[in-house]
Amino acid sequence: MVIDSVENNFINFRFPEEDGFLYGFNLYALVNGIDVLLIDTAFRTQARQVNEALTSRGLRLTHVLLTHFHPDHVAGLVALDPKITVLGSPEYKRTLVKEIPQTVTHVSFSEGFKFGEFDLSFTPVPGHSPCSILIDINEKYLHAGDNLMSRYDGKAILPWVEYHEIASHISSLELLKAMNRDKVLLGHGPALLNSSDINQAIDDRLSYLSAVLRSSGNCSWEDAVSGCTCHFAGKEFFEQLVQ
Ligand SMILES: [Fe+2]
Repeated sequence: MVIDSVENNFINFRFPEEDGFLYGFNLYALVNGIDVLLIDTAFRTQARQVNEALTSRGLRLTHVLLTHFHPDHVAGLVALDPKITVLGSPEYKRTLVKEIPQTVTHVSFSEGFKFGEFDLSFTPVPGHSPCSILIDINEKYLHAGDNLMSRYDGKAILPWVEYHEIASHISSLELLKAMNRDKVLLGHGPALLNSSDINQAIDDRLSYLSAVLRSSGNCSWEDAVSGCTCHFAGKEFFEQLVQ
């Protein structure tokens, strides 16, 4: 695990891919005094390491905010205190497959959430999952969850989406693009820190998803990625999508 400071009171925990895995994990923590809000938990192993690192610094994990409720983002809750406040989309039950020990508090899309010096606001972006949200942090950073994914070294990963949700995922990526941001944080892979990289990353995913949708799921790999400027890591998500 690599620990970096994004800014004062804003920590990044990075986990490279383990052998045989397509992606690693990227967790962000906001600090308010000794209290910490962690965005996503990854699996138990990563959650435990983050919790221990926080404790060793005299901090305590009080909140977990979830970009969405897929296992690689929520499973770590099992290793954390049941009394932690867990925040996430009102749609979370459509995604969560295993019980977690904490109660989930719905985020408010109209009022946001304040944590110390951090003003957070949320935008629903269904597609990757019905409960996916964007998290705006002080109108400076935007956490895009898994709307954009990459490997630890930044190599692009295909969008993961079920076929019947492709149109939703496209709409959510178009919404993200229209926000015209210049600092986007990801759950997998390094942050994108300029608007041209962000636009290109979005356009590549849009091109791929639109090609698959236009073909009604009957296109070749070459046709699916013919409009993309990047080379996506792995074809697994494509093969699952068109099978
Ligand atoms: Fe994920």
